[in-house]
Amino acid sequence: MKIDQVLLTQIRNYLDEMMYALVDLRMSFELGPSPTGFPRFQQLQQIIHRLDPAHQVLFRLFRLGEAVDGTSVRNSIPEKVLESMLAVGILQKLGNGELRTPSLLIVPVDGLLLFVGIPQSYPTATQPCNTWFDLSSYVVARALPGSLAKQRVLDVCSGSGLQSLFCAARGATSVVGLELNQEAVSTAQANAILNGLEQNVEFRQSDKLAALRNDEIFDFIVCNTPYAPVINGSRAPSTLEEIGNSVLLEILPGLVSHLSQNGHGILASWRAIGSQTSTYQMEFVAAKLENAGCSTFTFIDQAPDNAESVLRILQTDLEQRARMQPFQAAEMTRGVKDLLQNSAHKMDGFYNQLIYFRKGKLASANAQRAVCGLAAPVRVGVAS
Ligand SMILES: C[S@@+](CC[C@H](N)C(=O)[O-])C[C@H]1O[C@@H](n2cnc3c(N)ncnc32)[C@H](O)[C@@H]1O
Repeated sequence: MKIDQVLLTQIRNYLDEMMYALVDLRMSFELGPSPTGFPRFQQLQQIIHRLDPAHQVLFRLFRLGEAVDGTSVRNSIPEKVLESMLAVGILQKLGNGELRTPSLLIVPVDGLLLFVGIPQSYPTATQPCNTWFDLSSYVVARALPGSLAKQRVLDVCSGSGLQSLFCAARGATSVVGLELNQEAVSTAQANAILNGLEQNVEFRQSDKLAALRNDEIFDFIVCNTPYAPVINGSRAPSTLEEIGNSVLLEILPGLVSHLSQNGHGILASWRAIGSQTSTYQMEFVAAKLENAGCSTFTFIDQAPDNAESVLRILQTDLEQRARMQPFQAAEMTRGVKDLLQNSAHKMDGFYNQLIYFRKGKLASANAQRAVCGLAAPVRVGVAS
């Protein structure tokens, strides 16, 4: 994507005039929540067909990722805006005269408009999703503090830049987003301009914390690290806490060394194995943070996953790795299955968790380590 302030601002002004975010919200009233963070494709397609022609074109292109015939596009989108979309690269012309986005949708999130990758669940996805976005993105964004005035922020695994941009909008003096995928870095830079927040935000291509200087210190850190792949390297995990989030576990020591004296942050981790609203990973992470002088408060929520679904995700991910043979992927998956089956530890399911941490003491809890969550619904008996 071309990072050009004039072109991106022109596109944003057009989307605002078309009330893109408002129309999207109105459609969402009829769509209901979806576990992926994206509306179900066919349902959305039906609703979009009830819009006026210009909004139909816009939402088919940038909410569904569909190809649209050139005449309809030219009749709907002003020539200058269309030129900007082509020049930036969010639209391209196909051989048959149709236009479509190569890989990016435009999603409104609480006042922001974001370019994000087309999810793999959509039939219009033609390439791997390089700019990640899903339900977890919304969840972590909701957990951000209301004000970050005068704070220096670090966003590890920044993806589309959603959390970084919220932090900038909430007054952070500077935000550094670190992201492995170069395409996501470019998209996040474009998103910063699209939302007028580029002044204080810098996105760097980085494997974990590699692009940080030793002397860079932050007052607030947010990490929504990848939960698939669930395992790093080519060794099957030997402990339960290792199943679920390899990147987070590796960056923990480095994170605290970049945290200011009264610094705080949020770590998200998904599909961690545990029992009765406590997970082995949360205990491990909390203990590491405590050793470094932090207190933690964790929100734990039962995940819809089970051992079969987690093993399936793991094997699919391993099979897609460039240097892994199918038999190696199967062997590693078997190793994880054995660990789950033979561990002496109690397990009753997988949990999602959001860990809030602060150097020193928490204002909200007496204990150094506190947990909250929503218990599974209680069945109420009906008298006969
Ligand atoms: C779950 S997504 C979160 C993205 C974004 N923060 C959000 O909430 O929408 C995880 C992100 O981590 C990135 N990632 C994966 N491995 C990484 C690594 N070793 N270092 C930095 N980023 C990485 C992925 O490309 C992906 O964008």
